[in-house]
Amino acid sequence: MSTLADQTPDIPLITLHDGSRIPQIGLGVLRIDDEGVVPVVESALAIGYRHIDGAAGYNNEEGVGRALAATGYNTGEQRESLWMTTKLRDSEQGYDSAMHAFDRSLELLQLDYVDMYMIHWPTPFDWRSGETWKAFAKLREDGRVRTLGVCNFMPEHLDRLYEETGEYPTVNQIELHPTWQQRDVVEYCHAHDIAVEAYSPMARGADLANGVIERIAEAHGVTPAQVILRWHIENGTIIIPKSVHTERQRENLDLFGFSLTPQEHAEIDALDGPTRAGHDPMTFTYA
Ligand SMILES: NC(=O)c1ccc[n+]([C@@H]2O[C@H](COP(=O)([O-])OP(=O)(O)OC[C@H]3O[C@@H](n4cnc5c(N)ncnc54)[C@H](OP(=O)(O)O)[C@@H]3O)[C@@H](O)[C@H]2O)c1
Repeated sequence: MSTLADQTPDIPLITLHDGSRIPQIGLGVLRIDDEGVVPVVESALAIGYRHIDGAAGYNNEEGVGRALAATGYNTGEQRESLWMTTKLRDSEQGYDSAMHAFDRSLELLQLDYVDMYMIHWPTPFDWRSGETWKAFAKLREDGRVRTLGVCNFMPEHLDRLYEETGEYPTVNQIELHPTWQQRDVVEYCHAHDIAVEAYSPMARGADLANGVIERIAEAHGVTPAQVILRWHIENGTIIIPKSVHTERQRENLDLFGFSLTPQEHAEIDALDGPTRAGHDPMTFTYA
């Protein structure tokens, strides 16, 4: 039985279509090496994060695993209170390779199961997600993964996965921030009961210096980061902001003491533009 609600009273839980409950705010750990990630994860856990967003491709699962073991979050009740996500490398898509890759991730993380396993990129030019999904379903059946998700899937990729497997993922993690809102993808996900998770929720920091965001922040006595993250929260989106600094980690969790007026919310909606901070899923592979 999950103790998430007891341990993270201030972070809302989003119920997914498979019944799992994911903390709406998690910590992203991209671009931090094995040594660096240990104190970053330890500080996040100490201040109340109960959701870590990792990936095999971030090359730091060993460090994340060390932090979880050192803090006791890899076993027992503490483990049950944590949501740990990891992702399969694109080069390891396919049934057998995904099974082997998962074993390695679990070993590096020093865990018996992960809460969510995700396909990292759809790689439509080398499509193997249908086969990969069969491995994912087996891992779920064996209790080694609780929830299955994808990242960077456009509606056509979600359609194709459904045609091949009869299933939609529970979560689609996509690049999403005020200047790149991907409304067509979000609408498709809502229509198919797929939860939307925003990566690069602040455009890797690029959206923070926006004049509209700064004015709204000043009006509420909060920071631009908190304004953007609050906008996501009000949209019902799961967010995984990354910071290596404890004070910023704390700030990124502290989103529930104010709310945007409908007009402020609409002003941020109106910032949507063609300003991708990351890569195009139609052509990109993280390898
Ligand atoms: N599935 C995918 O393909 C995919 C792709 C990209 C990212 N992701 C995931 O999404 C996570 C977040 O995305 P991201 O790291 O690209 O971008 P992000 O969270 O939008 O922005 C992170 C940047 O903002 C800074 N920052 C964080 N909090 C701040 C605050 N309160 N005030 C000012 N600056 C702040 C961080 O600097 P400091 O660290 O120096 O504080 C860092 O430079 C990643 O870590 C990863 O887990 C997934």
